Amino acid sequence: MTRKLFVTTALPYANAGFHIGHMMEYIQADIWVRFQRMQQDNGQPRQVHFVCADDAHGTPIMIAAEKEGITPQQFVANIAAGRPQYLDGFQIKFDNWYSTDSPENVELSQSIYVKLREAGLIVTKTVDRFFDPVKGMFLADRNIKGECPKCGAKDQYGDNCEVCGAAYQPTELKNPYSAFSGSAPIMKPSEQYFFKLSDPRCFEFLKDWLNTPGRLQPEMVNKVSEWLGEAGEKLADWDISRDAPYFGIPIPDAPGKFFYVWLDAPVGYLASLKNYCSKTGIDFEALLRDPATEQIHFIGKDIVSFHLLFWPAMLKFSQHPVIDKLKVNVHGHLTVNGEKMSKSRGTGISPLRYLQLGMNPEWLRYYIAFKLNARVEDLDFNGDDFIARVNSDLIGKYVNIASRCAGFIAKKFDGRLAATLSPKAQEWLARALTKDGAPRAAQIAEHFENREYGKALREIMEITDVTNQYVDENKPWVLAKDAEQTALLHEVCTTALLLFRQITVMLAPVLPNIGARVAEFFNDAPYAWQDTQDGGVNGGVTAPLGRTVQAYNHLMGRIDAKMVADLFDAPAAAPAAAPVAAPGKAAATAPAPAVALPAGIAPLEAEIKIDDFFKVDLRIAQIVNCELVDGSDKLLRLTLDAGEGRLRNVFSGIKANYDPAELVGKLTVLVANLAPRKMKFGVSEGMVLAATAADEKAEPGVYILHPWPGAKPGMRIG
Ligand code: MSP
Ligand code: ZN
Repeated sequence: MTRKLFVTTALPYANAGFHIGHMMEYIQADIWVRFQRMQQDNGQPRQVHFVCADDAHGTPIMIAAEKEGITPQQFVANIAAGRPQYLDGFQIKFDNWYSTDSPENVELSQSIYVKLREAGLIVTKTVDRFFDPVKGMFLADRNIKGECPKCGAKDQYGDNCEVCGAAYQPTELKNPYSAFSGSAPIMKPSEQYFFKLSDPRCFEFLKDWLNTPGRLQPEMVNKVSEWLGEAGEKLADWDISRDAPYFGIPIPDAPGKFFYVWLDAPVGYLASLKNYCSKTGIDFEALLRDPATEQIHFIGKDIVSFHLLFWPAMLKFSQHPVIDKLKVNVHGHLTVNGEKMSKSRGTGISPLRYLQLGMNPEWLRYYIAFKLNARVEDLDFNGDDFIARVNSDLIGKYVNIASRCAGFIAKKFDGRLAATLSPKAQEWLARALTKDGAPRAAQIAEHFENREYGKALREIMEITDVTNQYVDENKPWVLAKDAEQTALLHEVCTTALLLFRQITVMLAPVLPNIGARVAEFFNDAPYAWQDTQDGGVNGGVTAPLGRTVQAYNHLMGRIDAKMVADLFDAPAAAPAAAPVAAPGKAAATAPAPAVALPAGIAPLEAEIKIDDFFKVDLRIAQIVNCELVDGSDKLLRLTLDAGEGRLRNVFSGIKANYDPAELVGKLTVLVANLAPRKMKFGVSEGMVLAATAADEKAEPGVYILHPWPGAKPGMRIG
């Protein structure tokens, strides 16, 4: 059968740019899609439709637009305009990017709703809701704040406490207030529309649906089974309505009521597909009904209930044809250096900064793929691990093969590969490409299909290991010096490059750009998985024998640790502990050069570039006030004017040398862009430079700097 794959990622909220967690989901799905596109069914490339859209509706977007003084549509359009730089940047290739705020989605959502109503699964109930009397609107849980009923922490959201982690109803908050107007909300009755998930039909259906083999990951089957309860007693009706003003889709026959954003969001998958079909001439209805069609959603673990309870129930009871095609692949979350990412706080790494720093997107694709498996496990982006993994695998093992062999083919053989191979070379090909007598490519394909990317890449790296062993044993750089070994040199370099080509084909879902460049080098058409065997677009393993190849250009450089350091919002190393710069004591991040210095002179720090130096923003500041700090025998509290139109509070460990009064009015040097530091006595907003001896015991004292006349507060030093 010819597989037809309709693949999606979750539709991101159109209220912000992407964080690196989003990129992880897109990379996971994109690798799977690219792998599928490399497959053939009956000699034709497999049909894959990979779509996404902005999740446009809901209160947060409405409020954000209002703040900017634009319509929510304009707000969403602005966000959408920013998407390609991320997607193109990381080589993520959707066939279509659409919006849930679209005519297709209105029509599809309303028609699903009407069918659910006809099935008797929509009920209305009057419930008391928090209402902001100043703003004139009902408040979502997240828009009500107050004191946590458990721990008393102030300014907590209506659904859970960020301090103690307690979950509760907004009605339980003490002293609640509206996040919009600050006014005390009142309770107001409102008629709400519910999807009747408590109906026994839903339980009966979900129980079977869930347990269909191959549909869900085993841990998800378990989790959702728990939610269902023994006989569906845990399933509660789902409130699908919101009152005006709301940016959403109107509920038919219910004036002033809109669908809650999570009702129309998954329908957005179908809306985007429909829009794509109309652009490309594909018959949308026929595709949905085709038994060969599979519908696969890649989503994160936080949105499982919407995809594994509500969405299948909606499809089932609106008699939607795709219900039997549905598969959901759930992934864990990406953490950065062990820390959770938060939508509101922002994250440690910005995908755009990654690109702006000139970092290669395929490094990240490889690293994420290497850490991914088919289970719902979190994975950590760790800077050091990232550098080590990519430099060792991609540069040290993979690219290294081509770097060591391609040059000889160009220089010594006019760019032509050997036309035949000796039995010995063929033996090496087999040794690298098979394991226990079976082709590795088949096993690797299975791993990709099952989203076991880490396993796939480990096995591909085993091929690079055998290949490098072959090159090491034959030493082309030695053969090249001996005219009698020319034929062997030709064979060794050719064999290694044939293996390099195979590895490239198998890495192509993860490294699409490299795949394309290597195909050009070999004068191949874009690679298909079939190229790992005989036949296929470009023929099998030995197809390039005797062929002239293109000039080889270096494929990829190593990751420079400095780039990774620049990637993080906060530098990995905390600023020196003492509020006074003490060059002799500061922890060196790299070993200092071995220069012999006279006794008593602190060793030099590792060399830096001028750019590193200019990251430290040094300013002339006037000490407008200076006083003792109660309870500290080291510190003075300085009030500094660095020409910013505001004053700074800086603590400095210089009490031993200075009387506060003698400093008032003097100019000195301030590190102006140091992150503020909370100290026992208050926040220190910078650091004053001072000199100390390498051995402070032998030679105590700290000496602050004082500029020459003419310098004024605010002047930059450098
Ligand atoms: N708009 C909803 C989804 C609607 S789908 C019909 C939404 N949007 S989101 O922008 O918050 O998240 C989009 C996707 O990114 C979700 O699958 C979510 O799990 C995923 N991720 C959010 N943070 C993530 C990580 N830290 N790591 C990996 N994926 C992450 O939810
Ligand atoms: Zn609390």
